[in-house]
Amino acid sequence: MIEKFEGVHMTKMERRIKIRSTGIYLPDKILTNADLEKLVETSDEWITTRTGIKERRIASKEQVTSDLAEKAARMALERGGIKAEDIDLILVATNTPDTIFPATACWVQKKLGIKETPAFDLQAGCTGLLYGLIVAESLILSGTARRILLIGVDILTKVTNWQDRGTCVLFGDGAGAFILEESDDDSGLISHFWGADGSLAELLILPGGGTLYPADEKTVEKKLHCITMKGNEVFKHAVKRMGEAAVEALKLAGLDKNQVDYLIPHQANLRIIDATGERLNLPKDKVVVNIHKYGNMSVATIPVALHELIEEGKLQKGQVIVMVAFGAGFTWASAVYRW
Ligand code: ACO
Repeated sequence: MIEKFEGVHMTKMERRIKIRSTGIYLPDKILTNADLEKLVETSDEWITTRTGIKERRIASKEQVTSDLAEKAARMALERGGIKAEDIDLILVATNTPDTIFPATACWVQKKLGIKETPAFDLQAGCTGLLYGLIVAESLILSGTARRILLIGVDILTKVTNWQDRGTCVLFGDGAGAFILEESDDDSGLISHFWGADGSLAELLILPGGGTLYPADEKTVEKKLHCITMKGNEVFKHAVKRMGEAAVEALKLAGLDKNQVDYLIPHQANLRIIDATGERLNLPKDKVVVNIHKYGNMSVATIPVALHELIEEGKLQKGQVIVMVAFGAGFTWASAVYRW
């Protein structure tokens, strides 16, 4: 039932979807701030104080996005006690697909050996995982799909300009997967809030290789195939939107800030994470942070952080988590979930 509808972005459902299981994959290779000091004019001190990042994982030359996704998916399947053929829809949220087409979800389907399930990609900047969760909710609660494999995955380091110190220190690679299905109790996704503002698209963009700047020698020479970002502008919008989105989703859930057990924010910058935690008046131990280990893995940050929280044995049944993200588009979204 739609309880409240303002514009295009607010719903609170009575039936709920739940995360049956999670899985992650992080490449082995570690790139430290000291390694970056050798590449560009930067310092461990600058990166640590401005971003909170100490090191990040880097995919190998041979690894493609669907390889990381497959590994995270296999772990989620195993932990969920189900087989690949028990999945009836594959949804991959990514900004760095294996190929412009076909969708990375189709490459993942092939690698998992799943036959003829629908499979498609969703692109919403770093917000992709939460957009995917919201889309999956609709598909499951409408009866269109019963069990969905949702993967958030990115290899941003393959589209990074390694001469641009303003961006190359920020990103890392990884994948996280959720198996989603309808909940049979009051646990699951309680509410969500989402939005976008395309008028600010150029502040965070990978311009080349699409129909705007089809790839040629000049686009490569100008590095249009790499991420460009007005970092401090993005920062301001991220702080505002993530705080607002978290507050709005809580309102829709009918919960107060003091009922939140964990905030799982997108990991783009420790200062953005801290500001979002402060907006909810949360003590530091309720704000999940792993940016120091992995940097900004874009769509993978939230599923990896949730998986680690579960692995550490911190999340108890009945606890309330708020997930919130912001990314290219601009896009933003939040979700309140009862474990
Ligand atoms: N090392 C040393 N100095 C640096 C570096 C570096 N790696 N990078 C930039 N600087 C310098 C700049 O040149 C500038 O120098 P100047 O004052 O002499 O001109 C100075 O540091 C300050 O630069 P700012 O860009 O203003 O620094 P800021 O404090 O804003 O930090 C950062 C930059 C870390 C990029 C921050 O703005 C940020 O995190 N922005 C948000 C990123 C984000 O949220 N992205 C969204 C998701 S990404 C996605 O969707 C793919």
